[in-house]
Amino acid sequence: MTDVLAVHGGTPLHGTIRVRGAKNLVSKAMVAALLGETPSRLYDVPRIRDVEVVRGLLELHGVRVTDGANGELVLDPANVERANVDEINVHAASSRIPILFCGPLLHRLGHAFIPDLGGCHIGPRPIDFHMQALRDFGAVVDKTPEGLHLTAPNGLHGTKLELPYPSVGATEQVLLTAVRAEGVTELRNAAVEPEIIDLICVLQKMGAIINVHTSRVIEVEGVPRLDGYRHRPIPDRIEAASWAAAALATGGDVRVLGARQADMTTFLNTFRSVGGQFEVTDDCPPRAGVDGRPADPGQEGGIRFWHPGGELNAVALETGVHPGFMTDWQQPLVVALTQARGLSIVHETVYEQRLGYTKALGSMGATIQTYRDCLGGTPCRFGRSNFTHSAVIAGPSKLHAADLVIPDLRAGFSHLIAALAAEGTSRVYGVDLINRGYEDFEAKLAALGAHTERP
Ligand code: EPU
Repeated sequence: MTDVLAVHGGTPLHGTIRVRGAKNLVSKAMVAALLGETPSRLYDVPRIRDVEVVRGLLELHGVRVTDGANGELVLDPANVERANVDEINVHAASSRIPILFCGPLLHRLGHAFIPDLGGCHIGPRPIDFHMQALRDFGAVVDKTPEGLHLTAPNGLHGTKLELPYPSVGATEQVLLTAVRAEGVTELRNAAVEPEIIDLICVLQKMGAIINVHTSRVIEVEGVPRLDGYRHRPIPDRIEAASWAAAALATGGDVRVLGARQADMTTFLNTFRSVGGQFEVTDDCPPRAGVDGRPADPGQEGGIRFWHPGGELNAVALETGVHPGFMTDWQQPLVVALTQARGLSIVHETVYEQRLGYTKALGSMGATIQTYRDCLGGTPCRFGRSNFTHSAVIAGPSKLHAADLVIPDLRAGFSHLIAALAAEGTSRVYGVDLINRGYEDFEAKLAALGAHTERP
């Protein structure tokens, strides 16, 4: 295997890095560009693999994608056309975003082909909510061994739906389909993550009419035409929290430029309870310039995260849908919890198999026991179905170097943090997977004083 990183641990991370547009908004905004009659401009797009996959799929469908300065992407959908199934299938199993092409392609072409999906292996990750929603709009779904073929023989029509669980992807599917469906759509039990609200902002700029009501109800009035947008995405709150956790676990001090408090309040509360300190600097001059960047990048706001010295505190945390503690914050923070005094409890309620990575932390000296029960909080839907979805972490534990194999994106970053916090040299295998969601992570590690090398 060539993608191995040797990490010489034991050095606290110190310095400043910057996060760009959120992976989980940027990729969806790129898909939304398919719905416009005119070009869209997306600013501050990170160079990550998920963006490359979506770009490749858009280009196969005739969208002209060009790069500008500072991460600007221009997406021109003037010549949207059907793509060759074999060419689409090159992207099979590389990401979960292709499922969101269904509605926009049905509107543009009357037909959509969706390859086998990829994404992280953190549970079965079914697409039943997506398929049911599309059928409710009037789509006909034909599942074949090569992928999904969808048509809409009678067009797509607004509908009333209620999701069994506030799924992020299924909510996005409904939004991207409803905006140009005929009539009104009412979605109940919708996800309301900041990335969803930002996608709604993108669609509103395009001409959509979307009302977000209280109690997870979203109402969309379909319109016959949408145009392109110009949008600066919300910053990546998962990446920001990952670097915060790395600062805490290594006893360091990291300023994350671009991080925004409003999207991270739940994380910040937990970070403070564990004993980490942070300072929000958002008193910088207002944004200026055509792409919304500050006139002086040195003045850019962000959040500084640091370990104040002394002992960290054990906490009980439960992951959940927004405004709860994000499931993607869990794995990085658990590494810091191995350094806290006492018993921490983690109850994962979003994905049924997102604790497998704790075995690797165990091999480095952490004391972590996983359970099938719903520990420390409210019973969740996984308690009845025998999934190992709770963990107890006893600390503090001295971590030592180990050979680690990265299982998925967020767990992969937690392996990296553990290697940085451990004494000695760890070899982290499969490290290229981290490029799916963390731009230039090796350069950022170097900027923070980490000692790593490609052996
Ligand atoms: N679910 C179903 N059926 C469906 C769809 C979802 O049962 O048709 C279940 C899932 O199995 C899961 C739960 O609903 O148990 C929540 O899944 P959701 O649909 O909300 O997740 P997603 O849209 O597939 C996005 C992010 C994830 C993030 C989750 C939760 C993207 C590309 N992915 O996934 O991010 O963890 O929302 O916030 O936006 C990551 O960035 O590493 C990542 C995994």
